[in-house]
Amino acid sequence: MNGEHKQRYREKYTNAKQKGVKFFPDIIYKDLLVAFGLFILLIGLAVFVGVPNEPKADPNDTSYIPRPEWYFLFLFQLLKYFPGQIEWIGTAVIPGLAVLALFLLPFIDRNPYRHWSKRKLALGIMGTVVVGIVVLTLLAAFTTPPQPEAAVANTLREQIALGEELYALHCVECHGIEGEGGEIKGVPGLEGVTLKPINDQDVMYPFTDETLYNIIAMGQPLQGMPPFGRAFGGPLSPTEIEAIVAFMRYTWDDRVELPEEETVAAAMPTLKEGEVPSYDVHVAPIFKRYCVSCHVPGKKNNNYLMRTYEEVMTTGDHAPNIIPGDLGSNLIRMVHREEIEAGGPMPPTKALKPELVEILERWVLGGAPETAEQAAQASAKGAPLPTAAAPTEMP
Ligand code: HEC
Ligand code: HEC
Repeated sequence: MNGEHKQRYREKYTNAKQKGVKFFPDIIYKDLLVAFGLFILLIGLAVFVGVPNEPKADPNDTSYIPRPEWYFLFLFQLLKYFPGQIEWIGTAVIPGLAVLALFLLPFIDRNPYRHWSKRKLALGIMGTVVVGIVVLTLLAAFTTPPQPEAAVANTLREQIALGEELYALHCVECHGIEGEGGEIKGVPGLEGVTLKPINDQDVMYPFTDETLYNIIAMGQPLQGMPPFGRAFGGPLSPTEIEAIVAFMRYTWDDRVELPEEETVAAAMPTLKEGEVPSYDVHVAPIFKRYCVSCHVPGKKNNNYLMRTYEEVMTTGDHAPNIIPGDLGSNLIRMVHREEIEAGGPMPPTKALKPELVEILERWVLGGAPETAEQAAQASAKGAPLPTAAAPTEMP
């Protein structure tokens, strides 16, 4: 910089200073505004978008490939070029020099100009660093092998649904659709072996969730059940095994019920005053959750099957168990915990919630329609309400 240049620069500097935008409070104020805006944006993202859960960690799982967050990938990649003994160059020396250079930058680059075309040194250094980081990050991203696809379930309901799917995929061939057991057919090595049910109190009561988890993860190799946990050479992640356990527990253990906010009633559309429920929308989910585990072929149930509308309306030693319009129907009396000719209270161990009993009553009174359309027609005619007609005690 020559004398004349210096002179002009000084003048410009004093002018600018007199025009006067102060660091405090003017610049600070702007910075605060922007920082506050970003803060609100982050809170918004956290509340309304969130971060999806990764699968649960499993210390036994050797197939997991650990990787740093994306913004550290470049450092991670750098490490790869300094293996073993010289790792310290990648971990300490290079990052250390980079930070040191940042500290020294004001002393190295004493160029007074602000226009970019006159700041080649600073821009050159910064450019190289940025390009380096981008390239290293990309290299790391492209050389990361894909993780085995992992299932994630965020709510209990999702967990149970996932478990149901996985059970159907991995367990049914030996334990049956509902865990009912029986003779195994078509499984090499176990042909003709008969399994006890795993859906009853004999298994559900003594086995804790942890025990069930371990049985599934490690299998029962001596009796012929293969291991399913990844750590033992099987196909399932911890998240997936937990989902199967949740499915078993909430479907087969008559002592547990879904927490209030997850109940069947909450999952189905609420009934309006005078609206008749339908089998498809309201009743089938109740039967599926509370009755079907016993009311399938091969169980003690007086041959009353409850898997379809057809079966519900026609089967059973004391059929029909549902007479449209009649609250004296066997099924209604039994869910009211009466002991009648057809049998004891249903379900045997635990009363259905009153809301669910009311849905069943309204359904029977409304003519026990199968589809939502039929139910809508029944509603239009004006359905009688159970409270008016319900017999509390049968003679
Ligand atoms: C290849 C056939 C086979 C498959 C597939 C299979 N199991 Fe088993 N399982 C068995 C055998 C055999 C036993 C031992 C039966 C016994 O002890 O009465 C068993 C035992 C069990 C037990 C303990 C029962 C008890 O009374 O001790 C549970 C629980 C169980 N299995 C759950 C599962 C689940 C859940 C799956 C699916 C992830 C599954 N099994 C897949 C064959 C299988
Ligand atoms: C734990 C097993 C189990 C569950 C769960 C269960 N039942 Fe039953 N059900 C039985 C048995 C066993 C019988 C035979 C009668 C008896 O022993 O009381 C039966 C009989 C019946 C009958 C008489 C059938 C006939 O024609 O004789 C009806 C109706 C019935 N159950 C309805 C239901 C309903 C509705 C639910 C669900 C809300 C339900 N059951 C849940 C075991 C069960």
